[in-house]
Amino acid sequence: LEVVKIRQLLLLWYKEKGRDLPWRHQKDPYCIWVSEIMLQQTQVKTVIPFYQRWLQRFPTIKDLALADLQEVLKAWEGLGYYARARNLHKAAQYLIQNYNGIFPDRLEEVLSLPGIGRTTAGGILSAAFNQPISILDGNVKRVLSRFIALSVPPSKALPQLWELSDSLIDLENPRDFNQGLMDLGATVCTRKNPKCDQCPWQGDCQAYNKGIQSQLPMSEKS
Ligand code: ADE
Repeated sequence: LEVVKIRQLLLLWYKEKGRDLPWRHQKDPYCIWVSEIMLQQTQVKTVIPFYQRWLQRFPTIKDLALADLQEVLKAWEGLGYYARARNLHKAAQYLIQNYNGIFPDRLEEVLSLPGIGRTTAGGILSAAFNQPISILDGNVKRVLSRFIALSVPPSKALPQLWELSDSLIDLENPRDFNQGLMDLGATVCTRKNPKCDQCPWQGDCQAYNKGIQSQLPMSEKS
């Protein structure tokens, strides 16, 4: 089946060309959670030092829950979008009170935490627990839009894009599959000048095969 090949191509590419990022060295759901919240609106290279400092200051959910909000906001200084830090702090206190300080491994419970939407939940559950929960962040929307030569802006086809992300995810290794998909978007299937000659999906990419990769995804602006 074609999808089996497509999964294998991405996993092999990720093994060889994937980025070595600090949060990929461990599976502690708290650390993964912190990284995914920081990465929601901040670039990888900016996040790395903040991520490392944060975990030194708040090594566990309990440390974060017991810290003063002022200290939490102080540690966030430089990342912006402070609602993210407030939500992390609030969720940590909720997890201490309701989950004995243990990060949940069920999708509905993760989605109920403040600051966590579908993509962040998938990022956490796949990376921490190797669960086959798909993701659809900005980079992934671009990769998948090109893959199927989507003829409308991604925001007009979210159900279809989610369905595609669901159907592609590797069920044996969803962790590396999702990380690979993000890396493909960040380093190869870039918005400008995509490096299609380096893409493991070149042969299967409808945009590439039509020669329209640089025109996709369609603009959100009318
Ligand atoms: N952006 C969001 N999550 C990410 C991750 N785990 N690795 C790299 N970039 C990301």
